[in-house]
Amino acid sequence: MSKGNKNKTSRGEGPLVEMKNITKRFGGLTALNNVDLDVDYAEVVGLVGDNGAGKSTLISILAGALRQNEGEILFKGDDVEIRSPEEAKKLGIETVYQDLALADNIDVAGNLFLGREEYRFSFGPLRFLDKGEMEERAREILEVLNIGFDSMRTKVRNLSGGQRQAIAVARSIFTEPDLVILDEPTAALAVEESKRVLQLIEDLQDQGISVIFISHTLQEVFSTADRIVVLNQGNKVGDLKPDDTDVDQVIKLMIGGRYESQPQG
Ligand SMILES: Nc1ncnc2c1ncn2[C@@H]1O[C@H](COP(=O)(O)OP(=O)(O)OP(=O)(O)O)[C@@H](O)[C@H]1O
Ligand SMILES: [Mg+2]
Repeated sequence: MSKGNKNKTSRGEGPLVEMKNITKRFGGLTALNNVDLDVDYAEVVGLVGDNGAGKSTLISILAGALRQNEGEILFKGDDVEIRSPEEAKKLGIETVYQDLALADNIDVAGNLFLGREEYRFSFGPLRFLDKGEMEERAREILEVLNIGFDSMRTKVRNLSGGQRQAIAVARSIFTEPDLVILDEPTAALAVEESKRVLQLIEDLQDQGISVIFISHTLQEVFSTADRIVVLNQGNKVGDLKPDDTDVDQVIKLMIGGRYESQPQG
């Protein structure tokens, strides 16, 4: 079996995640209006929509960074309150935001362990980082994701955008999550680097990890996602299998209702 999920509790009834009737208001603006989102075990869900459609808001609620005004979330069949990012992580939900928050002057191994350094000794205030152990664990994780780094000691500032994204994803699977949320992981990447990230998503899935993947590049979503959920101005307007739809239809759903008065073509 996969390395991921090995110490997770067993499945409950239904899908891994069920967000039901989620409404989120920012003052007078309704960013999400009664939105449902399901994610099954080991499923890749592509979340698409025009700028301001509510994608980041929806995943921020699941990630514990925002609270919904209405609606509920079931995780493994249990009703859950996700009050903070820590609570999301505890459940098994990890999020990689577009701003990766990597430390440029620290090496690859150090970045993988950022905020959870392993210490060999701990004498009062003096703590010694165990470099060897960190490197070994970092190597393991990178291996699981098929990421090759010549040196764990390379400073992150010297890496490409794709490599940085890979480190952020690798870091997210430390806790052996059930779900990894990726908000526009390919937005700043060149084509080859994007392909690498899409491969990473498949690797996560092979590990039994579910993924919510936000992207404006519909070709990427079609090639990677098992299901595509479309938001339009805070409303869910589509929930489709890539085989049952095409890019044109998804674009129409994304912009439908806003450009109707314009002439076609
Ligand atoms: N913290 C906030 N305060 C007020 N309004 C917000 C806040 N966050 C988001 N919004 C508004 O909520 C709506 C949805 O924004 P959101 O960031 O979820 O869209 P998105 O689909 O992620 O867009 P993009 O593709 O541009 O990232 C937008 O109208 C946005 O301006
Ligand atoms: Mg966004």
